[in-house]
Amino acid sequence: MWRQATFAAKAIDTSDKAAFYRDLAAQLKALLDGESDSIANAANTAALIFQMVPDLNWAGFYFLASDEELVLGPFQGKPACVRIAVGKGVCGTAVQLGTSMLIKDVHDFPGHIACDADSRSELVVLLEDDEGVFGVLDLDSPLPGRFDKEDQAGIETLAAIYAAASSFED
Ligand code: SME
Repeated sequence: MWRQATFAAKAIDTSDKAAFYRDLAAQLKALLDGESDSIANAANTAALIFQMVPDLNWAGFYFLASDEELVLGPFQGKPACVRIAVGKGVCGTAVQLGTSMLIKDVHDFPGHIACDADSRSELVVLLEDDEGVFGVLDLDSPLPGRFDKEDQAGIETLAAIYAAASSFED
């Protein structure tokens, strides 16, 4: 008999952002518990974020395929551009500068790559392990100014939980 573990995302009060991200971090840890497959974990992380974080139109992963290029990973939202050169767009700039990028209005970011014309603000955080940056976690919103420093800190924590749980060994 085929047995499947089930996971039900709980509704979280979003009025207190710090508490919201603490709860979401606990849910992500539970969701990834006992699983190290990097693609499965990225798929479930994107799905949890897209389901739980309000006002998003895209949430997903880009992984470094080489020192020069990011390639699309699991995501939720409209189909997106597959390859982004390091140094290009918000994602490639995050990798080049080695820092998270919090873009209040993508129209004010020269070189923003518009995968979905609805996107107005964007948050990109780094994925890092012992060997350095291996990709980014990217969130888009149709609302200008959707993300602030609390969102950045919360999503950075989720990215760290994903990176700690996932193995890229064959
Ligand atoms: N806007 C990103 C491209 C990826 S999509 O938003 C999904 C960028 O400028 O790097």
